[in-house]
Amino acid sequence: MSKKWKHAIIIGASGGIGESLVYELAKQGVSVGLVARRKEELQRVATEASKVLGNRGQVLGKNPELRTTIHESRFPIFVHDVTNFSEAPALFQEITKQLGGLDLIIYNSGIMPLVAKDEYNFEKDRSIIETNLLGAFAWLNEAAMRFQNAGCGTIVGISSIAGERGRRGMPAYITSKAALTTYLESLRNRLSQHGVSVVTIKPGVIDTAMSKDAATKMWLYSAEDTAREIIKAAHRGVTVKYVPWKWRLVSFILHSLPSFIFRRLNF
Ligand SMILES: NC(=O)c1ccc[n+]([C@@H]2O[C@H](COP(=O)([O-])OP(=O)(O)OC[C@H]3O[C@@H](n4cnc5c(N)ncnc54)[C@H](OP(=O)(O)O)[C@@H]3O)[C@@H](O)[C@H]2O)c1
Repeated sequence: MSKKWKHAIIIGASGGIGESLVYELAKQGVSVGLVARRKEELQRVATEASKVLGNRGQVLGKNPELRTTIHESRFPIFVHDVTNFSEAPALFQEITKQLGGLDLIIYNSGIMPLVAKDEYNFEKDRSIIETNLLGAFAWLNEAAMRFQNAGCGTIVGISSIAGERGRRGMPAYITSKAALTTYLESLRNRLSQHGVSVVTIKPGVIDTAMSKDAATKMWLYSAEDTAREIIKAAHRGVTVKYVPWKWRLVSFILHSLPSFIFRRLNF
């Protein structure tokens, strides 16, 4: 049972890392509002999370179907496209009302469409920035205001090792993650004095739909292990967490390389 959180929102909860985060929180008895575009997937995750919660040994009847039904209200789903920025404030209020409070918010939504080495496509770049970065502003600004006033709360942003430096591949994606990392650091510096923790997660290559066409599968890590490490780091109030930890060494090396050498690396 989580002593730290009772109510959470996960934006981007319909698959991959977000889905595993829902189950990880369900195991700890946390109610979660699930946000994403695909309703059927959200419904599937909510039903599964209800089973996870129901199997934690709570005595609510022997019938597993009944247990699932009882717990489904603990995982309400909300169909939302994060690029519809103007919807975020009212939806944020609605979810916190339905949950009965909010202690934790995780911004996990992200896209990484393939970009050819000679491709310069503004529309594609714009959708990446809108989803990975501006959506985070729309949701996390709401959470920041609420948590600052309350004097407590946890904000988690799923950034990426990809944002460490401006390499050749996927300029808009890596820019979105570099900017998200900086935004989260800035939020942390504003909010820590108000008792709010802001956690930046930098995963390497995680085994989800997003990475199926990835150029490298180096140190491929499961979504389940990733979610476990994210929740552990957030519990401990870690500021920046690489998942798995080995990527911290890579980050150190990447930052140490002078620009004229980095430019020659073909990745
Ligand atoms: N997989 C990796 O190797 C890796 C590495 C580093 C960082 N990350 C980051 O980790 C996060 C999760 O990625 P993942 O690997 O779990 O990918 P995924 O399986 O493709 O999941 C992406 C999630 O984002 C949601 N999403 C995408 N566009 C959205 C939109 N316009 N509105 C609302 N939700 C939207 C998706 O939901 P709907 O499609 O239902 O809307 C889905 O729940 C991303 O931010 C990604 O950049 C992943």
